[in-house]
Amino acid sequence: MARVLLPLLIVAAGCAPPPSPPEPAGLDQANEFYATRPPEERPQAGWQVVPAGLTDLRAASCGECHPDIFAEWRTSTHAQAWTDVQFQSEMTKSENRWLCRNCHTPLLNQMPVWAVGLEADDVERPIYVDNPTVDLELRDEGITCASCHVRDGVIEGPTGIETKSHPTRKADRFNDETICLACHQAVRSYPGKDFICVFETGKEWRDGPYNRYSCQFCHMQPVVRPQAVDEPPRPGRRHYWPGAGIYKVEGFGPPLDQLGFGLGVEVEAASDRLLVTLSNSAAAHLLPTGDPERHISVEVDFRDAAGVPVGEPHRMRIGQIWEWWPEPRKLDDNRLAPLEQRVVSIEAPAAAVSWRLVATSHRIAQEAIEFHELHGYPSSRVTHQLAGVLP
Ligand code: HEC
Ligand code: HEC
Ligand code: HEC
Ligand code: HEC
Ligand code: HEC
Repeated sequence: MARVLLPLLIVAAGCAPPPSPPEPAGLDQANEFYATRPPEERPQAGWQVVPAGLTDLRAASCGECHPDIFAEWRTSTHAQAWTDVQFQSEMTKSENRWLCRNCHTPLLNQMPVWAVGLEADDVERPIYVDNPTVDLELRDEGITCASCHVRDGVIEGPTGIETKSHPTRKADRFNDETICLACHQAVRSYPGKDFICVFETGKEWRDGPYNRYSCQFCHMQPVVRPQAVDEPPRPGRRHYWPGAGIYKVEGFGPPLDQLGFGLGVEVEAASDRLLVTLSNSAAAHLLPTGDPERHISVEVDFRDAAGVPVGEPHRMRIGQIWEWWPEPRKLDDNRLAPLEQRVVSIEAPAAAVSWRLVATSHRIAQEAIEFHELHGYPSSRVTHQLAGVLP
């Protein structure tokens, strides 16, 4: 009798979904609290159960069958959204960390604590409960595969292609900007506080001339290849999400040819001056976009016949300027709109016979580097080095 029953039981277990661990205490309370908050203050990917057929939610587990995509994602800024040195430094200096976790580790499964309320309705006085099931390895993965792809025990994707490995479902957000804007378009001010949430890439893109091209069109290049081991090649997209090419970890990031640089520079030399044209040549949003500290510096200097610098170098800065204290206030913003061309005329000193131009893209302001003591942290990248003679 036992011999007959055993194989039957195994078959039955193979068909049923795996037993998901019971939901931890505190989860209902956390979900109730987050539901009272505006969308940009909610964990962007919620609480997720492991889809049938998989062992856990970790990227490395997905990578066993999706090795190429895993290798690309690993170099991306998304994969470094938690471990980033600057982010970690900021996390030790604020009392509003529950807000930061919502986008940088967007699954409730990644958070060691959940907010369940605020004392005196103050965002800097959260009341926490512990998450006894936290997976710290999953937390360190930042914006991991499951943040975008796992919902309700199902793997969601652009096509919902069928596989025996896990349940799948097509979700439209993969095929337009929706999936990106959950985090890349969020604006909220906090009266009386010295911080603000300002990510306006989505609005800049929507208001611009290229909004028929999705974020993926530029930031996830098309590629035909097997998407999982032992499967035939199919059209899909790379998972690098390249930006300005300033890596978080020296020497470790997406290949630089994945995205053309946003700044265009053209120089026309006359006998007594240079006409420098700066343009937003490749981005569908403002250049630079995103974090308010990102900026581009352009420095032009002149040399005499002996190659010795003459006159003061001419310096330009493209970006935003904010005052953070006592309350955040934008003082200036001269970023380049899509298609914009800005011509700057620079007078050459009398003794000048040649010129040099260097353009540098910066991720973080010098004052912030000093405040967070981020010495040695890669923070900028030279994008153009040009030189010529005056006619
Ligand atoms: C045991 C192997 C295996 C594991 C583990 C696995 N997958 Fe898959 N996955 C596949 C196969 C096979 C396909 C179908 C590929 C094909 O037919 O081209 C697939 C398809 C997909 C798709 C495409 C869905 C669509 O709509 O196009 C996504 C997205 C995906 N997997 C994500 C994940 C994520 C995220 C994980 C980890 C949480 C994961 N997979 C773990 C084997 C696996
Ligand atoms: C769950 C939130 C979230 C989602 C969804 C998301 N991002 Fe991001 N993205 C981030 C965060 C956070 C960072 C910055 C991480 C850091 O700098 O440590 C980032 C960084 C980037 C960067 C900058 C790369 C660099 O080198 O600095 C680009 C480009 C980007 N994302 C594009 C996209 C696109 C395109 C999508 C949609 C397919 C998307 N993101 C979806 C949160 C998100
Ligand atoms: C037409 C191509 C194009 C489209 C469409 C586009 N981008 Fe970009 N994006 C760029 C380029 C080029 C850069 C690099 C700019 C530079 O050199 O600083 C960039 C930079 C970024 C950055 C800053 C990264 C960094 O390291 O400074 C973020 C974030 C970003 N894009 C997000 C998005 C999102 C979200 C969307 C969709 C709403 C989008 N982009 C649509 C071309 C595009
Ligand atoms: C920031 C969100 C995001 C993250 C993180 C992410 N993906 Fe994707 N993924 C997408 C988008 C968007 C597409 C749709 C691309 C397209 O249109 O082909 C996609 C498509 C896919 C596909 C279908 C094949 C293809 O190339 O289109 C697979 C498989 C997949 N992802 C697996 C993974 C795995 C494995 C990881 C982690 C190593 C991961 N993804 C991380 C957003 C994400
Ligand atoms: C609404 C989602 C969201 C929240 C909340 C959020 N971030 Fe981010 N963060 C992003 C995105 C998107 C980027 C990258 C693209 C950009 O700069 O626009 C980013 C980038 C960063 C960067 C890298 C900047 C750079 O130039 O490389 C740091 C550091 C950072 N965030 C810290 C924090 C801290 C600290 C908090 C909490 C006080 C926080 N973030 C809350 C979405 C968010």
